[in-house]
Amino acid sequence: MDKQLKKAYKRPMPRHYFIDPGNLCNLSCPFCPTGRRTANAQRGLMPRETFDIIFDKIRKHAKLICLYNWGEPFINKDILYMLSVCARHHIHSHLDSNLTLRDFSDDEAEAIVRSGVSSIFASIDGITQQTYEKYRVNGQLDRVLNNLRQIMRAKKRLNMKTPELGWAFYIHKFNEHEVFRAKELAEEMGINIWFKLLSADLSWQSSFHKEWNEILAFPKWVETAYPVPYDPYFTEIHFHKAILEVCKQPFNTMIVEWNGDVMPCCAVSGDEYKMGNLIEDSLDAVWNGEKFCRCRQFITNFGPVQNTGAVCETLICPLKQKHNDQVTETVSENRLGTKSWYALFSRHKLFSRKGKNLRR
Ligand SMILES: C[S@@+](CC[C@H](N)C(=O)[O-])C[C@H]1O[C@@H](n2cnc3c(N)ncnc32)[C@H](O)[C@@H]1O
Ligand code: SF4
Ligand code: SF4
Repeated sequence: MDKQLKKAYKRPMPRHYFIDPGNLCNLSCPFCPTGRRTANAQRGLMPRETFDIIFDKIRKHAKLICLYNWGEPFINKDILYMLSVCARHHIHSHLDSNLTLRDFSDDEAEAIVRSGVSSIFASIDGITQQTYEKYRVNGQLDRVLNNLRQIMRAKKRLNMKTPELGWAFYIHKFNEHEVFRAKELAEEMGINIWFKLLSADLSWQSSFHKEWNEILAFPKWVETAYPVPYDPYFTEIHFHKAILEVCKQPFNTMIVEWNGDVMPCCAVSGDEYKMGNLIEDSLDAVWNGEKFCRCRQFITNFGPVQNTGAVCETLICPLKQKHNDQVTETVSENRLGTKSWYALFSRHKLFSRKGKNLRR
């Protein structure tokens, strides 16, 4: 590998990791590649042994490990083991879950609490079955709410403060009428709620997608439930001045799939995006290998044609499209429309050039 390239684009080891316990799901959400069964990545569940190998390589650096990405984390029977390993090493662990895989018994709810998982956000986009299942196809609203209550009761019985629970409500055209009642129900249940915009095509976009509403304000409680590690060196990176928002993950978050493959970010998946494999390679060999350095080179500089060979430049992804758009049209905050950008790619972590968190 070119020494100059490595010198220019190497980064300190990440403190934030996504480790996917598996890309299988019980639901069929229409704008999720897993739900649509359109993902081109190989399907499977991470074996405990694979987790152990990966964990051993990252534990010195990790501050936050999200044990989900492209599937339902509770499908993996070793998920509680993985969470307990994080807890034993005092690393904040977090799950996003549909919580509708099965009914949690008292015992299972207690086992979840005892695993030491730091936080769980349940994806619940409605307060009536009809509205909820519009996006969460095959999901059962009663079950999700009961499972949440089961975990809350188990915490009380065990006198535990964790996991911190959150309700994530993704707004779209067919559930926007339930937003305020959801807020009330969350208050009644004693659970924090976070409203976000569903990434969806125009036919699903709500009035909230078109006009900012206070309900979309980033809630303070998320900062403790989902503490994204501070990256002291991010502001030292000099992005081209024409870039208004950059992909941040290739600079400080590592995305590991169930088979150990590492992706440049959580917007993409599949062999063609592979940066390396954390079972076979060392953390440094992947993180500061040529592929990651080339991605950083492309993102740091500006323009659709740089011939870096990076997947960020050669393959289709949301941000590549953005780079192309920016070059062919006048760069203006208005035209990029931070709101519509969020609406389209809300799963991707975007930061302004100055390093200010625009959205998580
Ligand atoms: C792919 S899911 C995996 C975790 C789990 N199956 C779930 O849905 O909560 C990861 C996150 O993406 C969210 N998500 C799913 N579809 C989305 C969309 N179209 N726009 C924005 N977020 C979405 C989920 O609600 C969840 O918070
Ligand atoms: S529940 Fe999560 S992983 Fe499953 S289809 Fe829906 S968004 Fe995708
Ligand atoms: S340019 Fe594309 S592939 Fe690269 S980090 Fe951004 S969204 Fe991901």
